[in-house]
Amino acid sequence: MKKKWLFAAAAVLSLSLAGCGSNSDKTATDNNNDQDNKKVLVMGTSADFAPFEYIDSAKSDEIIGFDVDLAKAVTKKMGYQLKIQDMEFNSLIPAVQSKKIDFAMAGITPNEKRAKVVDFTDSYYDTVDYIITKKGATFNGIDDLKGKKIGAQVSSIEEDTANTIKDKLKTVKVETRDRVPELIQEVKLGRLDAIVLEDIVAKNYVKQNNDLKYSAIEGVENQKKAAAFPKGSKLVTEFNKAVKELDDAGEIDKMRAKWFKVE
Ligand code: ARG
Repeated sequence: MKKKWLFAAAAVLSLSLAGCGSNSDKTATDNNNDQDNKKVLVMGTSADFAPFEYIDSAKSDEIIGFDVDLAKAVTKKMGYQLKIQDMEFNSLIPAVQSKKIDFAMAGITPNEKRAKVVDFTDSYYDTVDYIITKKGATFNGIDDLKGKKIGAQVSSIEEDTANTIKDKLKTVKVETRDRVPELIQEVKLGRLDAIVLEDIVAKNYVKQNNDLKYSAIEGVENQKKAAAFPKGSKLVTEFNKAVKELDDAGEIDKMRAKWFKVE
């Protein structure tokens, strides 16, 4: 895992700058399992979030990451073939709600508002929010964000975190972008002073961009991660059961060890 998100970042950025409109829905199928009689589940994701889901464009245009490995293993256990569809994070919950996709997995944090429109599985990971700034910026705590412009991914919990900081400091301006690489680019260019991003994701982006640094922030809550299914879906129980079996067999620990490291 070295330079690749940079490429992915550049690709996503040039797409959005070129104004080619919405997303270039990438679809990846699990080819190992190509049997005609296999039932298929379509998972929506937002592949801008290493190590949960991203594209290592130096190697291929395949979507990889912890969520992808987990989803593949779980759906296989459930007797389905997995198809992955990349879309903007903002579109995921509505797409589940309208059943355009069978479920979404994208490092999604269950909260009350979302749970009104989708059903969440048991949680499979925890993170907290960090701040990314330019390396030279002074950052000892959120008070240093007074008068600054803070960015977050649109419709993410980090957007809420940014707004909480704004409510506290008053003078802060919050801006959103559709994709995380766009946010990274904006900090690098000085158009945003800081962005809110989850710990392991922030660490990975900083590793790829040595002009940036990450900092922990005070007063943020733990965020859980879970898959989102349409309201009332019977698949939630099956999904939870499959995760539990994989966990008991030590498979999920292996996936964690593989993906949740910074290199
Ligand atoms: N955990 C945050 C949320 O649920 C952010 C997730 C962003 N995921 C992504 N693949 N970009 O709002």
